[in-house]
Amino acid sequence: MTQLNSETILITGARGKTGRLLLDRLLDQGVREVRAGTSRPADADLPGTTVAFDWSDASTWQPALEGTTAVYIVRPDREDAPELIAEFVALAGQAHVVLLSEQGTELLADDDWAPRVEHAVRSTTENWTILRPSWFDQVLTDERFYLDPIRSEATLPLSSRGGAIAFIDAADIAAVAATALGQAAANHQRVLTITGPEALTIAQVARILTDELGRPVTAADPDPLEGVTGAFERYIYAQLTERVANGDYAVVTDTVRETTGVAPRPLASFVRENRADLNGEIPSART
Ligand SMILES: NC(=O)c1ccc[n+]([C@@H]2O[C@H](COP(=O)([O-])OP(=O)(O)OC[C@H]3O[C@@H](n4cnc5c(N)ncnc54)[C@H](OP(=O)(O)O)[C@@H]3O)[C@@H](O)[C@H]2O)c1
Repeated sequence: MTQLNSETILITGARGKTGRLLLDRLLDQGVREVRAGTSRPADADLPGTTVAFDWSDASTWQPALEGTTAVYIVRPDREDAPELIAEFVALAGQAHVVLLSEQGTELLADDDWAPRVEHAVRSTTENWTILRPSWFDQVLTDERFYLDPIRSEATLPLSSRGGAIAFIDAADIAAVAATALGQAAANHQRVLTITGPEALTIAQVARILTDELGRPVTAADPDPLEGVTGAFERYIYAQLTERVANGDYAVVTDTVRETTGVAPRPLASFVRENRADLNGEIPSART
């Protein structure tokens, strides 16, 4: 076990779904210095040490990395991510790098974007762990995804063609990430596929929403490319939908329990906790 009280850990995307929870967890675990990386440091109200970190401004990278023993990289979903990440990881020296990737990346071609992002890490440092989570429960409470239609239209419009997804709570991903960062030697060059306890079709998720929210919510299967304009975004969304339909995100693993000793949280429990938000009774916490 690493001595956490001698660690300096940088979290990129520290205001995001996994980053924010990871920040609290590492501070609770007594990590000596936890750096909360954000591209908007002036707006940030974060525990730990807030540092400027912007994928679009390489001058922020070295100061954020200075003296770090480990780094959590939230993959930026942009076309040049493989190149940016290779450059950034090269600056990280011997620090242990934990990359947040996605479930089923091994099923894609080597020259697809997601495998190229992982390759950028593995070919630049020997000190890595790759996390491959399934879809986060938090897409239901994120206004960039499904919060507004669930609230206002009582619909879950997630293109799936009947495919299932092993939804995972971001808190469980953060718990696995904290272990990977805190026990670097034990997680050296490991790839961890992280899922919730069961794979659910979108119709099943709509049923959970209906039961837990106390009002009918129906599943819809819209055209995933409707309103998506950029070439890279269209490539990502088309591939995502294809992969849901193929069942790439439906494989269930026991990684959360094996890594943390605690079973992953069922989606129904997440929905219950966020009932007021999903019913539009309180302003949502947005990232
Ligand atoms: N959502 C899912 O279900 C899911 C499932 C599997 C994998 N993933 C992958 O996980 C990653 C995170 O996904 P997410 O959409 O849920 O995002 P998120 O972690 O909730 O938020 C993204 C973070 O990126 C930061 N950010 C934005 N612009 C930035 C910039 N220029 N430089 C540095 N940081 C910047 C934002 O914080 P600041 O504004 O403070 O900088 C924000 O905290 C993505 O690669 C996604 O593909 C997501």
